[in-house]
Order: sequence, then structure tokens, then C-alpha cells
Amino acid sequence: MDTKTMKAVVYNKKASPDRLIYQDVEKPAPGDNEVLVRIVASSVNAADYRSMRMGMIPKRKIFGADIAGRVESIGKNVRQFKPGDEVIGDLADCGFGGFAEYAAAPEKALVLKPAGLMFDEAAALPLAGVTALQSLRDKGNIQKEQKVLIVGAGGGVGTFAVQLAKYFGATVTGVCGAGNVEQTHSLGADHVIDYTKEDFTKSPEGFDLIVAVNGSTPLTAYRRLLNPDGVYVMVGGALLQIFKSLLFGWALSLGSKKMLSLAAKSNQKDLQFIAKLAEDGRIRPVIDRRYPLEKTAEAVRYLDEGHARGKVVLNIE
Ligand SMILES: NC(=O)c1ccc[n+]([C@@H]2O[C@H](COP(=O)([O-])OP(=O)(O)OC[C@H]3O[C@@H](n4cnc5c(N)ncnc54)[C@H](OP(=O)(O)O)[C@@H]3O)[C@@H](O)[C@H]2O)c1
Repeated sequence: MDTKTMKAVVYNKKASPDRLIYQDVEKPAPGDNEVLVRIVASSVNAADYRSMRMGMIPKRKIFGADIAGRVESIGKNVRQFKPGDEVIGDLADCGFGGFAEYAAAPEKALVLKPAGLMFDEAAALPLAGVTALQSLRDKGNIQKEQKVLIVGAGGGVGTFAVQLAKYFGATVTGVCGAGNVEQTHSLGADHVIDYTKEDFTKSPEGFDLIVAVNGSTPLTAYRRLLNPDGVYVMVGGALLQIFKSLLFGWALSLGSKKMLSLAAKSNQKDLQFIAKLAEDGRIRPVIDRRYPLEKTAEAVRYLDEGHARGKVVLNIE
């Protein structure tokens, strides 16, 4: 391979059966405000397959939001990083590009990699970790000793949400399938409800904050579970859950209970916060499966099945 090309996984609408093709492409060149990162690991998010399905294709046709790698070179205005620095980043708001050997990223999309984490562990942090943080802290206004319910505790966002809610001092109940019960306990949840055995909406207990990461439970059932002044935050799940929350959340928020929807935004300060917690061992990424870059289509398909335990990562270098 010459120095002007790199391996990447490129979206090709006409390809079949997989539209994600491992191939040689032109290596990106960093702009004046950009950092060229040699990617060591990436991770897959629902944002990858959901954007793909909605026809929201990145300009370079390379998906992948999360990256962990080494700074190869920098643009002339870059101040925060130098070649050789180990970094992580979320490229979802700046054109994706993580399913590749190199990405050019604005410096504000990156922070230093937490020391002590492997690159693939670090690549699991950005999008899912920041989403969990923004749902609990910014939308949910989480407070110490609150009762918090995390629905969909077993996946990428859910595993961070459970740990962060504990970090913020809440009493946490996680809802997940049978295969994730032990893991959810091990992440610190005080109570775990296996949704295959028990209907959590029948819980006699009320909650101050509900974070709905997955599933498609009716909004009215969530509202019933909220304590007075309680807050429900829709993060994701079945399209029905997302649309209903966006359409009817305001109407169900007319009393003291609030029914909100999250649209996470990548943010350097929040990513720094998550990286520091991981470096200090206060949160840890849970990795279900690891794939090489050439098997990205398989990795995305696996995540799309909806039952990953924690994160699915790509080892690239
Ligand atoms: N609003 C935003 O800004 C934002 C940002 C990021 C992600 N999202 C959305 O958040 C959702 C979750 O993302 P993710 O990365 O965490 O996905 P993920 O890792 O693919 O989630 C998989 C997990 O979901 C669990 N699950 C599946 N069906 C469930 C159900 N009915 N009840 C409870 N748990 C269930 C599975 O556990 P079991 O096998 O135990 O069922 C599995 O562990 C996606 O819909 C994504 O689009 C939204």
C-alpha cells in the first residue's frame, strides 16, 4: 500500500449482500484545524446502521463515530495535540469516518485517551458514554439518592448509564434480558428486572428518573411509573418509542412529570469527563465482541440484531 492510500470500509448502495465494502481509498489530509489520527480501534453504534437506513450517508461514505488512535500529524492551527499523542474521539457530528485506518478530525472532537485503557476499550467510550451522561445529567437532572430506572441496561448506552447513575449517587434499577442480568448487577445496579420474566411497568415502586434506552413501552406506562416531579428521558429503542416520545412527550409533560427526548451532541468537555471517569476506574467499558476492520459489515449486522452485551468494537491497526 502506498502512503497516499489506506484501508477503509466504504458504503456502496449498489453492493450486495453487504453494502459496507473493505477497500483501498485515499488517505485523508488534515485541514488547518484538524488532526490526522492513525486509528487503532473503533466501535459500532446504532447511529451507523440507523443513518445508513435513513439514507444519511457521510460525504466520504465511511461510517464510524468512535475512534481511538495516535495523532499522526496536525493542521497549522491545532494547539491541543501533537504527533504521537494517544486520543479518542466522536466523529458523529463531523462527518463520521471511523471505519478506516486514518481519519482527519477537528481537534474539538478529540481528547487524550484515558491512560491504562487498551485502545479498543477506549474506542467503546465516546458516543455511548456521552449519550448516557447527557441523558442522566443534562436531560434528567439526576440527583443523589434518586430512584433511577434504566430500561435497556445491557447495551452500549445502557451499560454506561447504569454505572454513571451509580456514580451520581442514585439507587439504580436496570431492566434487561435474562442474558444481561448478571452483568447489570456487576456494573453496580441495586436491582435488576429481567424483562423476559417480569413486567417492569407493573412495579409498585415509583421512580424519580427513567431513562429509556431500548424497547417500546407505552409512554403512558412510563408516566405512571414516575414519582411526582419525575422525569422520563427517551434515548432510543424501537422506532415506535422514539416517534411517540417526540410527538406526544410535550402533551404528557403538562403536569409535574416531564417526558423528554434526548438528541445527544458530541462535546469535548463531556468526552473529557467520561475519559477521566474511565481513567480513574469509576466506569468501565463492557465489550461484547471484537472484529477486525475487514469484518465491519458483520459487526454492524450483529449490533443491528439488537442484543449486543455492551459494545462491539473494531480492532484496526
Ligand atoms: N438520543 C440519542 O441522542 C441517542 C444517542 C445514541 C444512541 N441512541 C439510541 O439508543 C439506543 C440504544 O443504543 P445502544 O448503542 O445502547 O444499542 P445497543 O448496544 O445495540 O443495545 C442493545 C441492548 O439493548 C437491549 N434490549 C433490546 N431490546 C430490549 C428491550 N425490549 N428491553 C430492554 N432492553 C432491550 C439488549 O439487551 P437484551 O439482549 O438483554 O434484551 C442489548 O443489550 C438505540 O436505539 C440508539 O439509536 C440515541
